Amino acid sequence: MSTTTPPATAEPTTPVGKAADYLDQRTKVGVLAKQLVRKVFPDHWSFMLGEIALWSFIVLILSGFFLTMFFEPSMALTVYHGAPATMDGQLMSAAFASTLDMSFEVRGGLLMRQIHHWSALIFLAGIVVHMMRVFFTGAFRKPRELNWLVGMTMLILGLGAGFTGYSLPDDVLSGNGLRITDGVVKAIPVIGSYMSYFIFGGEFPGEHIIPRLFTLHILVIPALLLALIGLHLFLMVLNKHTQYPGGGRTDKNVVGYPAVPAFATKMGGNFFIVFGILALMGGTMAINNVWNYGPYDPSPVSAGAQPDWYMLFLEGSLRLMPGQTEYVIGGYTLSLNVLIPAVVIPGLLFTFLFVYPFIEARVTGDRREHHVLDRPRNVPTRTGLGVAFLTAFIILALAGSNDLIATHFAMSINDITWAFRILLFVGPWFAFWVTKRICLGLQRKDRELVLHGHETGRIVRFANGEYIEVHKPLDEQERWLRVNYEAHKPLEIEPATDARGVRRKGYKKDRRWQRLSRFFYEDRVEPVTPAELAAAHSHGEHDALEPQHGAPELVTGTRSVEREH
Ligand code: HEM
Repeated sequence: MSTTTPPATAEPTTPVGKAADYLDQRTKVGVLAKQLVRKVFPDHWSFMLGEIALWSFIVLILSGFFLTMFFEPSMALTVYHGAPATMDGQLMSAAFASTLDMSFEVRGGLLMRQIHHWSALIFLAGIVVHMMRVFFTGAFRKPRELNWLVGMTMLILGLGAGFTGYSLPDDVLSGNGLRITDGVVKAIPVIGSYMSYFIFGGEFPGEHIIPRLFTLHILVIPALLLALIGLHLFLMVLNKHTQYPGGGRTDKNVVGYPAVPAFATKMGGNFFIVFGILALMGGTMAINNVWNYGPYDPSPVSAGAQPDWYMLFLEGSLRLMPGQTEYVIGGYTLSLNVLIPAVVIPGLLFTFLFVYPFIEARVTGDRREHHVLDRPRNVPTRTGLGVAFLTAFIILALAGSNDLIATHFAMSINDITWAFRILLFVGPWFAFWVTKRICLGLQRKDRELVLHGHETGRIVRFANGEYIEVHKPLDEQERWLRVNYEAHKPLEIEPATDARGVRRKGYKKDRRWQRLSRFFYEDRVEPVTPAELAAAHSHGEHDALEPQHGAPELVTGTRSVEREH
């Protein structure tokens, strides 16, 4: 008879351990969890910006869930009775009435409304600053172009979520926003009026728009966003997270902390910080006090009416466009005064963002994977383009507040509008040019530092009367940071004709890409090469001039000493 002893297994003893074991035996999820737990994540404060968007989205879902319990998405007319006194007895939609009710009667309702609204503002701000980090550091390069596209789709959905949300209360401000939307849709040639009838279920405002926006706002958009956030984070784990340049960091390794406990703890901490700040804002800072605006009525438009910040650029674009560009051709109206600012300009801005990673890859001719981020100064044209884009966005947003600027600074609104019109064309170019020059200047400064070290402010005089300033050489880490980048060169293309003088097919296209590539990489500052560094050190003995044991004595200040040659 033979006996076998079963292998000793560590049976889970705690309830959590038992539950995990139960799950693992049925799903084998443990293998995946183990891999994820051990995954190394690089660390940098700017990686927290995406988390701000993530955590505010969670707060949006939680607070939105509460609001859906009390909001009535109906445009049926009702006479309101209740607080505030200014609204008592007014005819309004059930949507507006339920918003008032939620703010004044439902316990915690106003707090939740305010938390929800602030979360939306911070969510979109989080997306924008996160996107800026990704853009300026080149995190969108291969293999992360797909994640950039997912991100861009989420940005548009985020804008859609914000717009559909702030239109729901059916107050004067949101109603006017919808009327602008109606105008924009109608400005689309040929199909515009049909689309407007389709969207509003008849003549604007109709009775259907609020229930339709409600479905989009609480179901379709959040579901799409949730799915895309999942995909976004999955791709982030799959592609690995990028890391900032520094000693020992390459495209082939990841330097950082394990996901558990270090990274997960930080993420958890960030969630509570974001949640706490949003709750504080919601509790202390009034936002969208709709009872001050009143229920929607197509006739009044108040001054000082601004949409939420992320929509201001569209409002500004509309306010800047001269009104004369409306034509009636064969009985049909072509409203270029609306079409250009509200469809063409945003269309161009978003197309630029969507395709930028692919254009940059094409003009760089680079098909390699990149996991180490760029320092913005090392890609001057990209950085310049990014700043130019932001400048255009800010000018448009300011133009969306031209009435407020006029009243606050006692200026003529016409002068302000003209100033912004000119600025919209001049500002981004100027911003591009200045930013590019600053980047190139910083790169030259980096070269200078690597070759000659830091200035110490110590002036020494040798016995022969020569004065020098002592420079402190850079340490390894600092030097790596400043030399470890690639200064791309403009694309080289095949000649226009082959050896027998026959014109090459595709030459013109190549030539166009080459021109664009020149725009990107003509001006460049090469990193210091090892040979240059060695040469600088060989006649840079001054740099290493430090008082050492047995070293020749120097003159510093008024003290006179000797130095041997
Ligand atoms: C709902 C909105 C968004 C959420 C919740 C979100 C969340 C995140 C998080 C948590 C990360 C990892 C941490 C970090 O690198 O910051 C990340 C990475 C990334 N995100 Fe987003 N993001 C959003 C929108 C966007 C947008 C609009 C873009 C660009 C168009 C974008 C592009 C990327 C890329 C390329 C990465 C990888 C970065 C790297 O590995 O360095 N994301 N995102």
